[in-house]
Amino acid sequence: MKILIVGSKGFIGSSLAVYFSKNINYEVFECDVAVDYQKKNYIVIDASNSDFHTVFSENNFDLCINCSGAASVPDSIIHPLRDYNLNTYNVFKMLDAIRLHQPKCKFINLSSAAVYGNPLTLPVKESFLPAPISPYGNHKLQAEMICKEFFDYYSIQSCSLRIFSAYGVGLTKQLLWDLNKKFVTSDVIELFGTGKESRDFINIKDLLIAIECCLNANKFDADIINIANGVEITVQQIVDIFKQHFSETKQVKFNGIVKAGDPLYWRADVTLLKSLGYSPTVAIEDGIAEYIRWAKTI
Ligand SMILES: NC(=O)c1ccc[n+]([C@@H]2O[C@H](COP(=O)([O-])OP(=O)(O)OC[C@H]3O[C@@H](n4cnc5c(N)ncnc54)[C@H](O)[C@@H]3O)[C@@H](O)[C@H]2O)c1
Repeated sequence: MKILIVGSKGFIGSSLAVYFSKNINYEVFECDVAVDYQKKNYIVIDASNSDFHTVFSENNFDLCINCSGAASVPDSIIHPLRDYNLNTYNVFKMLDAIRLHQPKCKFINLSSAAVYGNPLTLPVKESFLPAPISPYGNHKLQAEMICKEFFDYYSIQSCSLRIFSAYGVGLTKQLLWDLNKKFVTSDVIELFGTGKESRDFINIKDLLIAIECCLNANKFDADIINIANGVEITVQQIVDIFKQHFSETKQVKFNGIVKAGDPLYWRADVTLLKSLGYSPTVAIEDGIAEYIRWAKTI
């Protein structure tokens, strides 16, 4: 199977490229906006005018996994047009190029739990009405609708994966990166919120397994799948794990301010993902320990 990974220099895309390259059943092609003269099967995309027609007219793929886009809620509030271009408009361009040049190529769209906003009850099921609370969440929702549009009118097979909070070796942004930096440099640490906010984390190793399960067993009828472990963990619990690795004497204060666009509590219903064969392999304590060890090396 020939797989194109768009955004292959990013956190998820680069891990996916390594993961699939180890399996002889997959021939991996990569593309991103960074120039790379060394890599085999690598296509450079012009960031100022992403031309996916050239990519899909000059190569044949069985599957395209879109790992590109902007992955920051705060950034989407400051630069909504950039976020829209990266998370929505580019998805349209990719699907339109697939429609014109390779209508049999399947498409996996990396969406986000941000489309749910603050769900009224937990666990969050795929059938819940989306209610995004940030430009990022809105743009991800629009990208899902574009996938549906291309399936309904042009039979382009796709699915959207609503990833909750992915973390692990290679991640240089978001809560764990921020916490690690603060624990390394300060004895008194200030964090947003109350500490009671919760997330449903999935380690990058499990995320790769989950994506492979979806690619092998999913219907590809523009359906939507939650990608998480179904385990709710609070920010305070994450802080406690960090203290065990650094020092119990570190003082962590929560400032009580909710960051704009940040949801409060998340726990996914992962019945659908599990029905595709997924089961988690990395406990959060082990994943964070590995992450802290890795962060020391960079
Ligand atoms: N990391 C998470 O926890 C998480 C959670 C939910 C959803 N997601 C989504 O998954 C996707 C990947 O996330 P990530 O954390 O790996 O992001 P990332 O920022 O690490 O990687 C994105 C990559 O896309 C590339 N890119 C940007 N524009 C491009 C273009 N026009 N053509 C090709 N490549 C382009 C960037 O150069 C970068 O390498 C994003 O769409 C993100 O919204 C991530």
